[in-house]
Amino acid sequence: MTSHSFVSMKIVLISVLSSFLLAASAGNFYQDFDITWGDGRANILNNGQSLTLSLDKTSGSGFRSKNQYLFGKIDMQLKLVSGNSAGTVTAYYLSSLGSAHDEIDFEFLGNLSGDPYILHTNVFTQGKGNREQQFYLWFDPTKDFHTYSILWNPQNIIFSVDGTPIREFKNLESNGIPFPKNQPMWIYSSLWNADDWATRGGLVKTDWSQAPFTASYRNFSAQACIWSSGSSSCSSKNSSSNSWLSESLGTTGQQRIQWVQKNYMIYNYCTDTKRFPQGFPSECSLA
Ligand SMILES: *[C@@H]1O[C@H](CO)[C@@H](O)[C@H](O)[C@H]1NC(C)=O
Ligand SMILES: *[C@@H]1O[C@H](CO)[C@@H](O)[C@H](O)[C@H]1NC(C)=O
Ligand SMILES: *[C@@H]1O[C@H](CO)[C@@H](O)[C@H](O)[C@H]1NC(C)=O
Repeated sequence: MTSHSFVSMKIVLISVLSSFLLAASAGNFYQDFDITWGDGRANILNNGQSLTLSLDKTSGSGFRSKNQYLFGKIDMQLKLVSGNSAGTVTAYYLSSLGSAHDEIDFEFLGNLSGDPYILHTNVFTQGKGNREQQFYLWFDPTKDFHTYSILWNPQNIIFSVDGTPIREFKNLESNGIPFPKNQPMWIYSSLWNADDWATRGGLVKTDWSQAPFTASYRNFSAQACIWSSGSSSCSSKNSSSNSWLSESLGTTGQQRIQWVQKNYMIYNYCTDTKRFPQGFPSECSLA
């Protein structure tokens, strides 16, 4: 860790921990999000309690959070495109801006009716990604809503599905691996056509006779630090409810991740020898 990043991390921590203004919590889509594209294909419904994105041959659609966050524990319930969703991708992610941006991604790759979705994940730090892990789910994500969560604090990033952790990206800055901690991120989601690569590597194309394709969202909640004019303020006046800021995987969490990775992980960049003939990225041996 360079002395510069050590100092800036300290500053971030101090500014996070010393802020006790009341900020975000349980959500209303009108309050928390803006529809950013899709020309009428994205809609907020039920007085702000739910949102739908749709995709047809002309366009997909998407939304973005009104707030920028610097750390958060963010939950959203999604119900994915049902039936023949081959070729469609529903992306749900956090991202900052610019060529050195940070990004934390969930992407749901559709499939033919009855064939499994792939949950694709990635972490970008300072503009560099190439850290893909992919999973099958242990349920049909189109039949009902399920909760997809990102815990992002100064120690780690943890991806969870219905409360089960599936992936961890630790802060390994002391080993020279950048960690997202200085750039505030927005929450984004979009539904789009990616039939050049999404389903069976692009072999199965979108069947436009099934359009419009629709994905639904509800029950957004964020315990988070909201970024505004250069500083960040966290969820609660009650500092003990900010415990997510120091949360990490315990023994049980480690066991759950191992269970998921053993039974449901279908791709891991850290074991892809063809892709990294010169040796795996250094976080692979440290994780
Ligand atoms: C779609 O189904 C095929 C066949 O079961 C499977 O190989 C593939 O991983 C599934 N998911 C995607 C997104 O291609
Ligand atoms: C909404 O999310 C909260 C926690 O984030 C959970 O306790 C509650 O059961 C969820 N509501 C529904 C309808 O699933
Ligand atoms: C603070 O938050 C914790 C955890 O959410 C809760 O148990 C406690 O009652 C809260 N205290 C006050 C004073 O609100």
